[in-house]
Order: sequence, then C-alpha cells, then structure tokens
Amino acid sequence: MQSLLQSLGPVTAVIGAQWGDEGKGKATDILGEHYDVIARACGGANAGHTVIVKGKKHVFHLLPAGTLHAGKPVILGSGMVIHLPTLLEEIKTVEDAGIPLMDRLFISGAAHVICEYHKQVDGALEDRRGRGGIGTTRRGIGPAYMDKAERVGIRMEQITENLHSRIEERAKTLHAWLGITVNIEKELAEIRMAADILRSCIVSHMPLFLHEFLKKGKTMLLEGAQASLLDIDHGTYPYVTSSSTTVAGALQGLGLPPRVLTSSIGVTKAYCTRVGSGVFLTEDLSERGERLRERGGEYGATTGRPRRCGWLHLPELKYSAILNGFTCLNMTKLDVLDEEEEIPVGTALSSSGGVTYKNLKGWKQSTVGMTDFKQLPSAAQEYIRFIEQEVGVPIRLIGTGPGREEIIVR
Ligand code: GDP
Ligand code: IMO
Ligand code: MG
Repeated sequence: MQSLLQSLGPVTAVIGAQWGDEGKGKATDILGEHYDVIARACGGANAGHTVIVKGKKHVFHLLPAGTLHAGKPVILGSGMVIHLPTLLEEIKTVEDAGIPLMDRLFISGAAHVICEYHKQVDGALEDRRGRGGIGTTRRGIGPAYMDKAERVGIRMEQITENLHSRIEERAKTLHAWLGITVNIEKELAEIRMAADILRSCIVSHMPLFLHEFLKKGKTMLLEGAQASLLDIDHGTYPYVTSSSTTVAGALQGLGLPPRVLTSSIGVTKAYCTRVGSGVFLTEDLSERGERLRERGGEYGATTGRPRRCGWLHLPELKYSAILNGFTCLNMTKLDVLDEEEEIPVGTALSSSGGVTYKNLKGWKQSTVGMTDFKQLPSAAQEYIRFIEQEVGVPIRLIGTGPGREEIIVR
C-alpha cells in the first residue's frame, strides 16, 4: 500500500470508469484511512456507495464512504444536489454507529437543495417519457440541476432564510407545467428542520476553505459519484445523469484548481453493468449475464433495480481512461468471474456495428478474499495483464470480495 500511496501523491480522485456501481465506495473506504480530508464533489442521492466492514454493510448516498474514518474532515462540494432528509438520516446512521460526524462535516453553501418537488418532477417526466424513459433514480437529480441552470435553485447557504414565497412561486409554476401539487408546508418544515441541525456545517467559500487544508500540507481524497459514461457532456447522452462525473468534474465541483490533483484512480468492474436505459453493447442477456447478476449481487444500492450485466468493452474503458487521464485502475469484483469457463471481452466494433470479442480463459477456482497478486490463478493474472495492456493503464488494486480486507494492492 505504501508504494501505491507514494505514487498517488497528496490529492487523488476515485472515479467510476463505467456506468456506475463499480465499487467506488469500497475503494474510498480503504484509501480514506490514509488521507486527511475526504470529499465528495457532485451528484446527489442517486449514488449508492456500499462499504462492508467486519461483515456490517453501510450504504452511503450523499456522504462519501470515507466518512467511516472518525475524526477526518468530510466535505460535500458545491457541485452537489442535496436532499436534506436523506442527509440527516445518513448523519444519524453514522453517529448511531458511534462515529461522531457533526463537528467535522463541511457542506458548501453553494451546493443545491433537492426538495420533494424535484423528485415529483423527476417522476412525472419519467412517466411522461414512458418506455423511452432514461430510467432515472427518481431522486430529483435532473430537475434540481435544471433549477440550478435556470438560476432559480435553492442553495445550502439559503436554507436558514424564509423561503415561503419562493417555494410558493415554484409550486405555481410546477402545477401549471405538470399538474403537480407541491406540499409547501412540508417542504418548508423539512428545510427548517435541516437548517437547525446543519447551519454550523455550512461553509460559504468552499474553494478558500479547501485551500487552507492544502496550504497546511493536508492530503485529500475525492470520491467520485456516478461514472464517466454517465457524464452529462462526455457520456452516452441522453442516457446520462445531470452532473459532471469525471476527474475534471470532481475538481470543478469542489472548486479545486486542477494543478493540485496528483493522481486519479479509475474504478472498473472485471465485467460491466448498467442500471437504467441506454446503449450497452456488451450486455449479456443469456444465463451467463444472469449468473453475473446473481454472483455479483447486481441490484442497485439506491433503487434495488436489477442491473443489466455484460462484459468489459475495451474501447469504452480506453475512452474513460483517456477522458480522465487515470493514473491507475482499481479492478473490482474479480471473484464474480470465478466460475466462468471463458470470459469474453469486447475488443472493437465490427463493421456491422456489433462487437468483436476476444475470449479469455477463465480460472474456475475461487479467488475470494485473496490479497496477493501471485496467489491468483495464472489465468486470472493473465486476464488482468491483458486488460491493463490494452487500456494502457496499470491495474494496481484488485477486488476479491466486498469486504474491506478483500483487496490486492499491486
Ligand atoms: P459504487 O456506487 O461504485 O460505490 O458501487 P456500489 O456500492 O453501488 O456497488 C458495488 C457493489 O459491489 C457493492 O455491493 C460492493 O459491496 C460490492 N463490491 C465491491 N468490490 C467488490 C469485490 O471486489 N468483489 C465483490 N464480490 N463485491 C464487491
Ligand atoms: P453510483 O455513484 C449507477 C443512472 C440512472 C439512470 C441515469 C440517470 O452509485 O455509481 P439520475 O437519477 O442520475 O438522473 O439517473 O444515471 N445513475 C446511476 N447508475 N450508479 C449510480 O451512482 C448512478 N447514478 C445515476 O440509473 O440510468
Ligand atoms: Mg452505486
């Protein structure tokens, strides 16, 4: 671990290289121990980051998974959209687990608030799109960013204000547009309750606040949410989320100057999954895909939806690596492939628009819990070497199970 940490340097970002749920939470949890400050930059409670410590499962939607490391400052960046009741619930869960949080939680005043009506709008728009829908998490993400872009959003720095007339105005507009009835009193009560609890956590100039940490030589771990192929600009639009999910997006969301970043880790499964609609060229609808789903527990951490399962597609992984400039990769869930006879990897698009596959040898042997690369069956080692050579980025972390200890550091 020490040599990995040394090569990563003081400020690193953990970023999804596929369509999400790659296992970013586990990576941040493990690395978090070694960094001074833990930060999340973008997105909202559409994220679901799972961490398993001593058999106990923790799922984070808004807080970074590194929050479990007591005493470290936790940052929620300006690029985020925050559903207040969800945040309060998450804070309570952490504190109930005996990990104090309130005095080390810092929320950007520029982050936006997700109200119940954003969720109503998200649901109404998805319903209206019907079968052609995006398959959003219905957490109000898109509508909150719509308000932000329209410059009518409510920011965290405003939650202590009297928002009655603003919400009333919004309610009228939404009723006229989508026939939605906004429960104004409930919205206000939720905001008031959150304001009472969170007011001391709100930071008015997050870039300056973060600069002070860096000036003191503190190290920083940025936890990405969603993933590169879901990026609003560079992903598979329109089947994307509404934020910037790349390394650059993480820096922008926090207000960190790009030159402070010393490295980034792309997280990819040893295969591929996607929740929601949109292209997935290497999706496997056969019983092999089903086996990946069952062995990998591929059901959404946020919505419980079954994830679509398939194989790695090298052109996409290379695209992510180029887009983000990853220093190294964390390949997760290698153990899920333990029972495969052969492992297909998409290598290129054929002239007919289909995918050309290379079949790699499976290992038919358990890798669960392995912590040493040399311990892995030779076919598993070959699989990893093949992927890193093709992508051109070293795979330095390999997941062999969901638990904190089940990882190989190379
Ligand atoms: P995130 O959104 O990127 O943080 O990923 P999720 O938490 O949504 O989904 C990843 C799932 O895979 C979680 O249930 C993790 O506990 C689990 N997981 C992570 N790494 C591994 C691994 O190496 N092996 C196995 N079997 N499960 C893993
Ligand atoms: P983590 O951080 C997987 C997907 C949704 C949908 C699309 C748009 O856990 O990896 P949205 O609600 O954001 O408007 O939905 O993006 N999506 C995710 N898929 N993991 C996530 O987060 C996701 N966040 C959004 O399924 O297809
Ligand atoms: Mg997830």
